[in-house]
Amino acid sequence: MRILVAGGAGYIGSHTIVELYAKGHTVVCVDNLYNAKLSAVKNVEKIVGKKIPFYKVDCCDKKKLRAVFKKEKVDAIIMFQGYKAVGESVKIPLKYYRNNIDSALTIIELMDEFNIHNIMFSSSATVYGKNAKSPIDENDEALRLNDITNPYGETKAMIEKILMDKANSDSKFKAVILRYFNPVGAHESALIGEDPNGLPNNLMPYIAKVATGKLPFLNVYGNNYKTKDGTGVRDYIHVVDLAKGHVSALKCYKEKKKNIYIYNLGTGRGTSVLELVNAYEKASGKKVKYKIVGRRAGDVDKLYCKPKKAKTELGWEAKLNIENMCKSSYNYENGGRR
Ligand code: UFG
Repeated sequence: MRILVAGGAGYIGSHTIVELYAKGHTVVCVDNLYNAKLSAVKNVEKIVGKKIPFYKVDCCDKKKLRAVFKKEKVDAIIMFQGYKAVGESVKIPLKYYRNNIDSALTIIELMDEFNIHNIMFSSSATVYGKNAKSPIDENDEALRLNDITNPYGETKAMIEKILMDKANSDSKFKAVILRYFNPVGAHESALIGEDPNGLPNNLMPYIAKVATGKLPFLNVYGNNYKTKDGTGVRDYIHVVDLAKGHVSALKCYKEKKKNIYIYNLGTGRGTSVLELVNAYEKASGKKVKYKIVGRRAGDVDKLYCKPKKAKTELGWEAKLNIENMCKSSYNYENGGRR
């Protein structure tokens, strides 16, 4: 297939483009480079050995995006273009609603204009809300909007709803919703990886900076949760496995049974903060200093999925383990992004 990847210069977008090429698909990459760098696209080109059509366009800009749709014939869209920092979304909610909802609506409206029916959306486990009981399967939720703890998560749930309503109104429209758990790690080439601006919000990129001496120590947010060692438990998934999940999910577009498909993408295994710190020390051979501090607002004790539906229906499952995740993260942080 030929696929327009919105937000394709970002962390998950760039890894997905690599895996799409590996399976013979081609891509048109659109990104406004707000939270990504052109060098990521160049590095993807090095990995896949092909030139990737790239447009520096904001997906909220309908006129400019229409020009891309006019020029490039595509069979499907994958949407990665949303803002994604939970804490930031609490501080600047309007920007999150404007960017995430507006860009999604603009893309879906243009799909209508250009007779494109296939879309894939990067959603998040955050839509399950704070009261979800792990392991979570796709049927456990009813999009419990009241349980979502931040504007970022609200935009994910709203876009899911928009896609469901559109699919109900249009039998040709096919939407695949992928709910990610905690994507971490980097491509084995160390050419692409997670490169957050400023101080990292998420655990693994923060650990990476401590292990490489760029930050003095990690704050561990709470050790009195009801978990194995008291620290928060999450379902970390290697970004390359996650990217492959998107490629596997393309098969939904050939299905005739329904027009909305929802999958958890996770490993089904829970790892605590301290377990991840230990694994990182082992994989990198570096000490990761930490201090136990108070809980972070909005955090839950554990969040991990039942990954069975994606395995049964897509034939996809995560293959890479915590060691692979830590090693690839360290390699990228230590010498990557050339
Ligand atoms: N943590 C620390 N110290 C840090 C950062 C995180 O101890 O410096 C802990 C957190 O308290 C939590 C765990 O590490 O227990 C994981 O935290 P992350 O910030 O890495 O990830 P979250 O699970 O909070 O959030 C992720 C994504 C969101 C998504 C959410 C789904 O970042 O986009 O999962 O629930 F919405």
